[in-house]
Amino acid sequence: MTIRALFPTHVYTAKLQPRGGRALTERLKHECRQLRADDPAGRRWSQANYPGGYTSYSSASRMHTVSPTFARLEQQLDRHVLGFARSLAFDLAGRSLAMTDCWVNIMPRGVTHGLHLHPLSTISGTFYVDTPRGSPGLKLEDPRLERMMAAPPRLANARADRQPWVVIPAAAGSVVLFESWLRHEVPANPARTERMSISFNYSWF
Ligand code: NI
Repeated sequence: MTIRALFPTHVYTAKLQPRGGRALTERLKHECRQLRADDPAGRRWSQANYPGGYTSYSSASRMHTVSPTFARLEQQLDRHVLGFARSLAFDLAGRSLAMTDCWVNIMPRGVTHGLHLHPLSTISGTFYVDTPRGSPGLKLEDPRLERMMAAPPRLANARADRQPWVVIPAAAGSVVLFESWLRHEVPANPARTERMSISFNYSWF
């Protein structure tokens, strides 16, 4: 008897740098805070679209092109994205995956980032800059969920790859990558301190 696991959903996690990554993370943390202070348009947009938090998604979404520190992050991420694309067996037809967007997210206590996906992108992900104790991870949704018309719920103690939602813990200095069609959210931050991250998209066209 054979049961195959077909069409798996891949999620990649790694430390950004095997060692010595703290200096870059600290510089990024400083620049994230500075960006929020210097970005009234982003703060206004966040008030309407990211209540209680700050994101530069609409105002400074190509940080890798304006800050050498973010460009350094891009350089580090390229390696991870390339490895992930290889493991996914992507045939890029001679093109390369390149960073198209890179933006800052700051979530103080109580702020939520609702379910979404990243249209017009191939690989998306997040680099964690600051993750205070108790701050939420990244909650991923089974992409087949809307087809499960009569499927029973899963046992609470079932393995992660049997669950309809899986939370990937967020740890400062680490990166998570997934295919951009995978729906995800960040549950409300219960920690007293801000959770800080940098999200990005890679595309091949
Ligand atoms: Ni996202």
